[in-house]
Amino acid sequence: MQNFEFHNPTKIVFGAKTIAKLAELVPAEARVLILYGGASARKNGTLDEVKAALGQRFVAEFGGIEPNPSYETMMRAVGQIGEQKIDFLLAVGGGSVIDGTKFVAAAIDYLGDPWEILETHGASVKRAMNFGSVLTLPATGSEMNNGSVITRQSTQTKFAFLSPHVFPQFSVLDPTKTYTLPPSQIANGVADAFVHVVEQYLTYPVGGLAQDRFAEGLLQTLIEVGPQALATPDDYDTRANLMWVAALALNGLIGAGVPQDWASHMIGHELTALYSIDHARTLAIVLPSLLDVQRQHKRAKLLQYAQRVWDISEGSEDERIDQAIARTRQFFESLGVKTRLSDYGLGTEAIDAVVAQLEAHGMNALGERQNITPAVSRAILEGAR
Ligand code: NZQ
Ligand code: ZN
Repeated sequence: MQNFEFHNPTKIVFGAKTIAKLAELVPAEARVLILYGGASARKNGTLDEVKAALGQRFVAEFGGIEPNPSYETMMRAVGQIGEQKIDFLLAVGGGSVIDGTKFVAAAIDYLGDPWEILETHGASVKRAMNFGSVLTLPATGSEMNNGSVITRQSTQTKFAFLSPHVFPQFSVLDPTKTYTLPPSQIANGVADAFVHVVEQYLTYPVGGLAQDRFAEGLLQTLIEVGPQALATPDDYDTRANLMWVAALALNGLIGAGVPQDWASHMIGHELTALYSIDHARTLAIVLPSLLDVQRQHKRAKLLQYAQRVWDISEGSEDERIDQAIARTRQFFESLGVKTRLSDYGLGTEAIDAVVAQLEAHGMNALGERQNITPAVSRAILEGAR
């Protein structure tokens, strides 16, 4: 196992009717800015519930955070905070709202041009404003991690940053708040969480026995509850399991002490920035082809994945790997998540454009072995046509 440090300070408050606990979770004297997305939080009553729990505190609002939050939008929030003497941020929404809030928290007292936060991928962040979240979409794990992904629309640059200063202080996870999600977003959430686990598990063995078994358990749980969450949208236990699995998939636990890949995410971010394809859908396009192209480097783990996650034990090694990749693709497709570039109307031109953007963004050595050069990324995209 590799050396590691693990520290996750986010308090999770989980269950039905837990939004009321904001009354105690948010400091009594806080001047609060609630950040949210488009219409959903207002329409389904979550915003009113949050405001009621905050009681007499000073509360301001910043709405309109778009999916794949933009630098341009979030810098407007930074401006509003200065004017209103805000000292606590509360994100109410999915990964985009929480990520946007993390950026605002880091940008507010940043000395210098805040875009450096993204350019340095978080290394330049020295402090951040305190914030919490109320999660409405199980998918990204942003509610319990220190990552954020922001898009600069003017240059179509989607960059991630990580900083120990942007863990949420707390996150409220009420599974009933996911009932209003459209099926496409539930499917996205299942696919995103699945790929988060795979990016930290399907690399090469380092003897992280518990990490492997945790990861396999999370994948099997997603395979079990994903279709149920679509079939029975108001089943509390299913939504509760999905919500907790998505948080556990990317809260640092299964990635501690093991190699990590993240190439599907980096290639996927370029697809979103250029063509506005939902984050999870880009991963479903890239991952099956990446596993195929990288099969020699991931051989031992692919065989373990085939056996333990999909119960595949017949055939030669390559046949078992083929079956495991096919089952992965079928799983995404069964959720209604298309896995081919052509399904999104993209072909050769898009492959050229994505590879050019990867090069422009310095993504020249991706993957757990840093052997995914732009030429390999091209082969992966060719395999995903
Ligand atoms: O904007 P509103 O009207 O609220 O609608 C949203 C949005 O259109 C809707 N929605 C959210 N909760 C709802 C709801 N609709 C009905 N009922 C509810 N309860 O869902 C749509 C998508 O929301 P979004 O927040 O964009 O989705 P998601 O949570 O999948 O977040 C995606 C973003 O997270 C980043 C992605 O790159 C992308 O920008 N990621 C963040 C990560 C992290 N911080 O660790 C890791 C991930 O790999 C990912 O990269
Ligand atoms: Zn993701």
